[in-house]
Amino acid sequence: MPDRYTRLLPVSSHEKSAYAVARYAAVEAGGILKARFGLHNDIKIKGKRNIVTEADLLSESKIIATIHDEFPGHAILSEESGDNMMKSEYTWIIDPLDGTNNYHFGIPFFCVNIALARQGEVVMGVTYDPMRNEMFHSVKGKGAYLNRKKVVVSDITKLGEAAVGVDLGYVPERSEEMLSIAGRLWTQVHCLRLMGSSCLGLAYVAGGRLGIYFHKYLYPWDMASGLLLVREAGGLVINSHGKPATIKDNSIIASNSVLLGKFTRWLNVQ
Ligand code: IPD
Ligand code: CA
Ligand code: CA
Repeated sequence: MPDRYTRLLPVSSHEKSAYAVARYAAVEAGGILKARFGLHNDIKIKGKRNIVTEADLLSESKIIATIHDEFPGHAILSEESGDNMMKSEYTWIIDPLDGTNNYHFGIPFFCVNIALARQGEVVMGVTYDPMRNEMFHSVKGKGAYLNRKKVVVSDITKLGEAAVGVDLGYVPERSEEMLSIAGRLWTQVHCLRLMGSSCLGLAYVAGGRLGIYFHKYLYPWDMASGLLLVREAGGLVINSHGKPATIKDNSIIASNSVLLGKFTRWLNVQ
């Protein structure tokens, strides 16, 4: 397995090799997505506005086969194929293509996400954008990186100066709530973006590009890598009760501590 980044970040040998495997699998899967981007991709409808493409499934098979070869005893939770039902303290959480609608419509803003949780806590995560060759990656306690560069969250502390990313998701009631909040929020912030990829939204908070990313209904694979990236970049991710978010939460806000405080106070008086 390529070992370009592990030299930078010493971790326990088991997690170190998991980290190398995750990055290798993300690059391989990203290559599959990139090669098929813009070509006809057969789609299946999962729900209203929610699709799965052939490329999703090819990316997922590649990632799962790679992980299974290296860690046959580990549990795997992946968006399209579900839970492999293994009992293990380690669970791999995979979104083989986040930003599927962007991908399907030829909008080059999507990524591959692979995270490893130990007893439910994310300890390693990668979010790879194959179109830009940007690999956001982190190991618990070791910081967050974009390719070889260490990243930190934005130091913007005023709502009016922040770029804010949101997404609507696939649950109509939550999407309506988000639209209603966004309708009032856009006058309060520097700019508002509908990202179309929650994983890149969170990675962009970690990378200091977005001041805030906010979503009302995510699944574990939409945020596992991002939860760790943002925290390792010095930011916070909270749930709808104001507590540190876990992969079991759906509604999350990610930001730096000052901006997060201002944003949640603004939300509460709405
Ligand atoms: C979706 C994207 C989207 C978000 C949805 C996610 P998918 O993931 O991240 O931006 O709003 O909630 O489910 O379907 O592209 O993997
Ligand atoms: Ca997703
Ligand atoms: Ca997906």
